[in-house]
Amino acid sequence: MADIERIKALLGTHADFPKKGIVFKDMFPVFQDPTAVEALITNIVHHISSTYNEKIDVVVGLDARGFLFGPLVALRLGAAFAPVRKAGKLPGDCARAVYAKEYGEDVFEIQKDAVKAGSRVIVIDDLIATGGSAGAAGQLIKQCEATVVEYVFVMELDFLNGRKALDAPVYSLIHL
Ligand code: HPA
Repeated sequence: MADIERIKALLGTHADFPKKGIVFKDMFPVFQDPTAVEALITNIVHHISSTYNEKIDVVVGLDARGFLFGPLVALRLGAAFAPVRKAGKLPGDCARAVYAKEYGEDVFEIQKDAVKAGSRVIVIDDLIATGGSAGAAGQLIKQCEATVVEYVFVMELDFLNGRKALDAPVYSLIHL
């Protein structure tokens, strides 16, 4: 699809960022082109609404770049939006999940009342690498007694096979 090639061409590529040996894909240049953002959101929303008949109740975006795409997708689906944030950032009663990072661990939280029991949820982020952070988000949604309908990403690093870590379907717009 021409739109996807156009979005792909806008991605930035940075060798040795944030450290030596990592080739970092940067999605911020896409936001310099509103027509590309429109195409990106339309593609994701079309994919979701043509794949799943039942209503999506909540779109959950991951800290931090998931906050840029999540609300746009949620608005078009007529769904709520809820953030997953690093521990200590969200007030009120939160569910917690620990996940492994390249070095050490991190903790994700979600406000329990943001995802009601029985809700149908889409989890969204800009990129899936090893799948650790998305997997932790899936655990949070389980703790809320809700269901992840699908994990959605703008970019997927296929060689890391992160989708294997996830227990629901995975959709990525761009495979790298
Ligand atoms: N871009 C953005 N986030 C990331 C990347 C990347 O290339 N790799 C792991 N997390």
